[in-house]
Amino acid sequence: MAALDTVLTIDELMARARRRVPKMFFDYADSGSYTETTYRDNESDFQKIKLRQKVAVNLEGRSLASTMLGKAITMPVAIAPAATGGMQVADGEIKAARAAEKYGIPFTLSTMSVCSIEDIAENTTAPFWFQLYVMRDRGFIERLIERAKAAKCSALVLTMDLQILGQRHKDIHNGLSTPPKFNAKSVWQMVQHPQWCIEMLGTKRHTFRNIVGHVEGGHDLSSLSVWTASQFDPTLSWKDVAWVKERFGGPVIVKGVLDPEDARAAVEHGADAIVVSNHGGRQLDGAPSTIRVLPEIIDAVGSQTEVYLDSGIRSGQDVLKALALGAKGTFIGRAMLYGLGAGGEAGVTRALDIIAKELDTTMALCGERDILNVGPHNIYSNDIPKRNSPLGTQG
Ligand code: GLV
Repeated sequence: MAALDTVLTIDELMARARRRVPKMFFDYADSGSYTETTYRDNESDFQKIKLRQKVAVNLEGRSLASTMLGKAITMPVAIAPAATGGMQVADGEIKAARAAEKYGIPFTLSTMSVCSIEDIAENTTAPFWFQLYVMRDRGFIERLIERAKAAKCSALVLTMDLQILGQRHKDIHNGLSTPPKFNAKSVWQMVQHPQWCIEMLGTKRHTFRNIVGHVEGGHDLSSLSVWTASQFDPTLSWKDVAWVKERFGGPVIVKGVLDPEDARAAVEHGADAIVVSNHGGRQLDGAPSTIRVLPEIIDAVGSQTEVYLDSGIRSGQDVLKALALGAKGTFIGRAMLYGLGAGGEAGVTRALDIIAKELDTTMALCGERDILNVGPHNIYSNDIPKRNSPLGTQG
């Protein structure tokens, strides 16, 4: 494999993943719902915020160390739950979890992952977080929570924004399924990537292993959209936060909040932290970017709970801007998937290195030595995209 140290940005990592991963799985990562406007806004709104440069500050002894849920981490970046990690590269979620463990940051495993909770527990030592979707079959969810407890997961990340699945056109055009169905199109996509095929043939992990073998009946588990439509609970409510918390007995992070009232409801119902997220622009197309709504969520609940942000983080500058606006931590999903596609565990480590270096340099040039001191004074507040202005950034 060509050396990853020539890869300098997450965009370059993405370009390398595009060359190495069959189209249907690369496209799964690089897509948003419908027009992909929210997907694009997540990234472009970060760029509208300008950083305040400060000079003549002693920059020796800098630190990115922080905490999430009270646990020490080496930088305020966690791995987001993302389906199909194990289709970007063989055993992808194990590789991403190992990279996160070595880095000293949290790893979150998706319910819809290829590697199972048990696979991660057997192949890592650090406690990881498990992302939970609530499904109609509550018995299955109870068992899933028990499995997460048995694997010593230290938090559950409860996703609230996917009672039904947003439509991603590319997945339908590609006939996406996990494992891939063998037809002319998918076989053509796979044979163009012989290295990917060889590595996939070397692992037994090809299905949604948290689910296959753990649910009754003849469901079509290969397709995320079919499974979601038939199984995800459309009646999910705030009471379910308490229901999950009671069964898990540990911290529950509520993910998928974009609205201050929802943020307050999450806290009232026991959330230990919330993630401001629009699911990477994959659910409600037309929703605002997460960086745009972060200030109002911080106003609503920032003094009561830890607020994290995902969707659109592609650089250390983005992380710094989210922290400046009040986030206690951030999550990367696509940057991790691109890392897996580009180079497995080493690719994820490269993604983390890129973000850490950018974060450190950006923090320093803003005149800060300690990431914990980053705040609104590091950005020009007039540049923050305003949600209430229908016409754009000034409002
Ligand atoms: C599932 O979480 C997805 O966004 O596809």
